Amino acid sequence: MTDTTSSETRVPNPRGISREKAPEPSISDRPIRGERYWSQDFAQLEWERLWPRMWQVAGRVDQIPNAGDYVTYDIGRDSIIAVRGDDARIRAFYNVCQHRGNQLVTSEVGSLSSGEFQCAYHGWRFATTGECTWVHDEDDFPQGSPCGRRNLVEIPCDTWGGFIWFNMDQTCDDLRTWLSPVADHLDAYRMEDMKRTHWVTIEGDWNWKCVQDNFNESYHLPFVHPQTLASMNEHHTGCQFDLYPSGHARMLMPGGGPGPQYTGRPDRTFQSLKQDFEFWEFDPEPYRDDLAGLRLALQRRKRELGASKGFDFSNYSDEQLTDHYHYTVFPSISFSMKPDGCIWLRGTPHPTDPTKCLFDMWYLTLFPEGATEYYSNSMRDWVSIDHQVEHQVGRVGEVSAGHGIDQDIAIWSTQQRGLMSRGYRDDYMPYQERRIRYFHENIDRYLDMDPM
Ligand code: FES
Ligand SMILES: [Fe+2]
Repeated sequence: MTDTTSSETRVPNPRGISREKAPEPSISDRPIRGERYWSQDFAQLEWERLWPRMWQVAGRVDQIPNAGDYVTYDIGRDSIIAVRGDDARIRAFYNVCQHRGNQLVTSEVGSLSSGEFQCAYHGWRFATTGECTWVHDEDDFPQGSPCGRRNLVEIPCDTWGGFIWFNMDQTCDDLRTWLSPVADHLDAYRMEDMKRTHWVTIEGDWNWKCVQDNFNESYHLPFVHPQTLASMNEHHTGCQFDLYPSGHARMLMPGGGPGPQYTGRPDRTFQSLKQDFEFWEFDPEPYRDDLAGLRLALQRRKRELGASKGFDFSNYSDEQLTDHYHYTVFPSISFSMKPDGCIWLRGTPHPTDPTKCLFDMWYLTLFPEGATEYYSNSMRDWVSIDHQVEHQVGRVGEVSAGHGIDQDIAIWSTQQRGLMSRGYRDDYMPYQERRIRYFHENIDRYLDMDPM
């Protein structure tokens, strides 16, 4: 299977991801006003100027292994089809029949039994190249046959990390340039070899930016995720924050044990890392009075046993074996990398209501070589490599995005209500939350452009 448009070029990175600190950009002190989260006018500006310029994800490459397989993704008022052609190439089109605009396909994943799309309204057919191949009463068009002329509208499409990406801007930068430096950093995780083992969409009463704001700071961890204090160094003094010129950002947070500010009992730490310790046959008892030593000891253990457990850690640095490498890709995606997987998060704006959002959580599992079942620590669940996971969709509380992410979700509805109140007087943020302000500044950069 070859994607002629693929960006899956691996950048060798034997010492692991660069931890070089990005120079701090200058950021204004422009306030983050509440109307950004509820105003129809603001959402319209985003719709005209921001979204049509963004590289976005339509689905996973392994959802469409064969010619004629397709996925769709709805963003705002648009729906996009990504389809694999007979030449194995994946192309993206607007999901719009070029006769009188009927949406061509309605399912989010499918396979073309005839090898072509056929519109349900008047039967026009389109090849996987987008070409209009057949119309009813072809000789009744005085302006000339639509065949070969009224083709589907194609947009830029590429793959990276096992994801199918598209962009509605015909003049966009190529995907790898757009993703800089995230793609170069994350190549080592081989996300194209990971399998999606959780696929959850939650319909919530909050603006999509609440999601990205949240994943752009770790200030909330002691209150929203108190369990993390025992197992990671969540304090900003222990973390590194990088803000890249591309608008993307990252956070490096030490894991494999608590930070020096932790005053809780060692048993809480041991309990919280229990699954990791068991899998890695690691006895933490010698570190009961030296919790600071746990992280390096666990790194050594993983390095020792990695190959025998079916993992190839040769492209990982020691830090990558325990720490949290969290990347926010502008404007709406987070990659939260673990040595054996990725929590992938996205806030998609609601098509008409800026106070609503479709929140996606995908968990991608890197199965150890030869394993078909695996205990996912992040999801606290056994996962299987053998089947395409079903898409769970529901309101808040109806479906789970995993214990930790559910804690985040529980906040956003109440935050949205406060942001809509007359009593909200703009933000008042500490320096450690500067990724949020940078995020909003980058949004404004696009809102200053011409509409598309
Ligand atoms: S709208 Fe598609 S064939 Fe008429
Ligand atoms: Fe959180």
